[in-house]
Amino acid sequence: MTRVLQISDTHLSPRKTHFEANWRPLRDWTVAQRADLVIHTGDVTVDGADSDDDMRASAALMDGLGVRYRAVPGNHDVGEVGNRHQPVNAERLERWRRYFECDRWYEDVAQWRLIGVDSMLFGDDSDEEARQLAWLESAMSSAGTRKLAWFMHRPLFLESPDEPDTGYWSVKPAPRARLLELVDRHRVALVSTGHLHKWRDATVNGCRYVWSASSGFLVGPDNQPEMPGEKRLGATVFEFEGREVAVTHHDVAGLSTFWIDDVIHEVYPPRRAA
Ligand SMILES: [Fe+2]
Ligand SMILES: [Fe+2]
Repeated sequence: MTRVLQISDTHLSPRKTHFEANWRPLRDWTVAQRADLVIHTGDVTVDGADSDDDMRASAALMDGLGVRYRAVPGNHDVGEVGNRHQPVNAERLERWRRYFECDRWYEDVAQWRLIGVDSMLFGDDSDEEARQLAWLESAMSSAGTRKLAWFMHRPLFLESPDEPDTGYWSVKPAPRARLLELVDRHRVALVSTGHLHKWRDATVNGCRYVWSASSGFLVGPDNQPEMPGEKRLGATVFEFEGREVAVTHHDVAGLSTFWIDDVIHEVYPPRRAA
């Protein structure tokens, strides 16, 4: 049996320490789990998209786990398509890669191929996005008889694969359609994401969509629309055995229930147009 932990949305920073108290319990739990691999699905930092210090300090904390890990970036780590203040670009990706090696990867465990995908590139219509799509196709085509699982930051959809644009919360309809075609064609069995700071486990059209909880903070109704899933902090444990997987949410002992709403003016103040 191969034990893989998914942690997500830690939002760490040496300057903005609002959620730092939740790192130690997460770290202690992670180490105690004796996992074969830890996957961080992004928003590692408060603002790695613009702060080298945030990226360096957060990478040092991850390295300090002493557990083998892989990470994919979130919008707060590398920016995002359509964000006029922090578009994802070569400079931001380069910073991520300097500290976290790469923004896409795959790992073979049991009879599975786990593929880390940089969801911040979806809809960018850039050469970088095209390169990633070609890489993703080949990572899946070369998987042989292994089952496929994707790990990334932003979910493909919230309630339904053909829902309209949900804005900040999920992948835009045009790139989503291309990606769902890949999910269908390659019979991807599992897509596990972060970003929403909610836990959910739902199977849609034969694919299991897991939303892994944040260990950092919850988002109240003023800052997040109604959507499925449970508002709880924690992490996700995957136990891969042959072609099967058991997926469980874990409340991590010692996490404090922080709400972004209480500190959003300090952590993510509104930006004024230049
Ligand atoms: Fe987040
Ligand atoms: Fe995010």
